[in-house]
Amino acid sequence: MNQEAEIFDKVVRERRSIRRYDETIDYDKDVVKRSLERAILSPNSSNMQLWEFYRITSDEAKKKIAYYCLDQRTATTASELLVIVARPDKVKESIKLNLSLVNDPNSFEKEDFREKRRTYYSKVMPLFYSRDFLFILSLIKKLVVFVVGLKRPIVREVTVINKKVTIHKSVALAAQTFMLSVKAEGYDTCPMEGVDSKRIKKYLKLPRRAEINMVISVGQRAEGGIWYPQKRYEYDEVVKEI
Ligand SMILES: Cc1cc2nc3c(=O)[nH]c(=O)nc-3n(C[C@H](O)[C@H](O)[C@H](O)COP(=O)(O)O)c2cc1C
Repeated sequence: MNQEAEIFDKVVRERRSIRRYDETIDYDKDVVKRSLERAILSPNSSNMQLWEFYRITSDEAKKKIAYYCLDQRTATTASELLVIVARPDKVKESIKLNLSLVNDPNSFEKEDFREKRRTYYSKVMPLFYSRDFLFILSLIKKLVVFVVGLKRPIVREVTVINKKVTIHKSVALAAQTFMLSVKAEGYDTCPMEGVDSKRIKKYLKLPRRAEINMVISVGQRAEGGIWYPQKRYEYDEVVKEI
């Protein structure tokens, strides 16, 4: 194992979900900033970046959000809370951003790639992310995919439900980058989905279509902050070599 891998291994192994933080510490807020800068470099589906990160730092806001995290100890004792939000309503902006990159004359991208990506962002992405109130478009897409798929491999995940999964997959990858980065910086985290997403959305004045992906508490672990030993399936139970 090289030195970088050894450091990474240590970070991964030392990360635990911390349920109680030391409330007396003077924590370094820049750790969260740097970790978010790394999180937004995470791989994400079609580079759409349909995410937003709300830093909850004031005592008043922390108290409120902790309450909406059902007053879980990890939230009430955290130095900071981070609300990670999926933004399916920001598809148009993301397409525009990607098209501007495709059309940038100074980029090193080859012309034939550019053409393919131009079509991808101007035709495929709007179709994939199109809204579908009555599931009708999803059914049509599913049928087309089924027929085309009889002859050749094709992406099957085309419904409005699949779209949600696609977005949340990417957002969760950013969450993981964030948590590992915070650990590497010497602090701790705990992801939470046991939260009242409706109340959090209202408090943050988020639009109806925004979705809370998770809330992450950040702080320095307190004595007794880990509630149980870490246990995972054995390697051979979950890893299959074909
Ligand atoms: C999506 C997600 C949601 C979670 N929600 C909560 C939660 O609401 N409260 C909590 O205490 N832990 C929560 N956890 C933490 C898990 O319980 C924890 O990761 C798991 O038990 C493994 O422990 P470890 O992270 O210490 O390895 C969540 C983890 C994930 C990935």
